[in-house]
Amino acid sequence: MDKYILETKNLTKIFGKQKVVDNISLKIKKNSVYGLLGPNGAGKSTTLKMITGMIHKTSGEITFEEHQWTRNDLSDIGGLIEVPALYENLSARENLKVRTLLLGLPDSRIDEVLEIVDLKDTGKKKSGQFSLGMKQRLGIAIALLNNPKLLILDEPTNGLDPLGIQELRDLIRSFPEKGITVILSSHILAEVEQTADYIGIIHNGELKYQNRMNHGDNLEKLFMDVVKSGKRA
Ligand SMILES: Nc1ncnc2c1ncn2[C@@H]1O[C@H](COP(=O)(O)OP(=O)(O)OP(=O)(O)O)[C@@H](O)[C@H]1O
Ligand SMILES: [Mg+2]
Repeated sequence: MDKYILETKNLTKIFGKQKVVDNISLKIKKNSVYGLLGPNGAGKSTTLKMITGMIHKTSGEITFEEHQWTRNDLSDIGGLIEVPALYENLSARENLKVRTLLLGLPDSRIDEVLEIVDLKDTGKKKSGQFSLGMKQRLGIAIALLNNPKLLILDEPTNGLDPLGIQELRDLIRSFPEKGITVILSSHILAEVEQTADYIGIIHNGELKYQNRMNHGDNLEKLFMDVVKSGKRA
């Protein structure tokens, strides 16, 4: 039996009076790609922010590698949530250097992650002058610096052209064999269809569907059926 690297149990987030994440129970298998789908405002980013420690949960549990999640687990979790936080006046290498210093990581890791995301040849170019796709890849490089077991990518292909999407998809697909589990959020169904081993569908803060992705499934029909029916997973 494959183990779950991450589980949430009745994870809930309330902002003011709005239950933005409503009793969500995710099961993320080790060394898989899990696609979290849902319309705008469904609660995807909020869920991922709780897992990456950017915001506190209101209630529920998060289990990482079969123990209760604590902030210490963030050393094994890498995240790119919404947009990458870059120092725009610094190059790719300098952006990574700042973080290796903060995290106490060896400089050698900088070249390794630049190689993985294919940004080795950007030289002195400032990251503020990067294309959107290059910025996303640098964001992923930052998320990979600490050698995470779990990589969380929130809408990683946002704004990318078809070539950029294809490249990023190949990159994401390469992670499970390196021992990296990926949670990917998106509202682009085709992207998830070709990348994910498992999918979860969130709507109005509720997890409506969670299952293995069967290639050949009509994800668009499934998505519409799930979002329109009021049922929970
Ligand atoms: N800090 C906050 N304070 C109050 N409400 C918030 C906050 N962050 C998110 N929300 C609300 O929570 C809901 C879910 O937002 P979230 O960003 O998680 O959605 P999403 O699924 O990531 O959507 P998208 O696909 O547009 O990125 C929205 O109604 C949003 O307005
Ligand atoms: Mg979002």
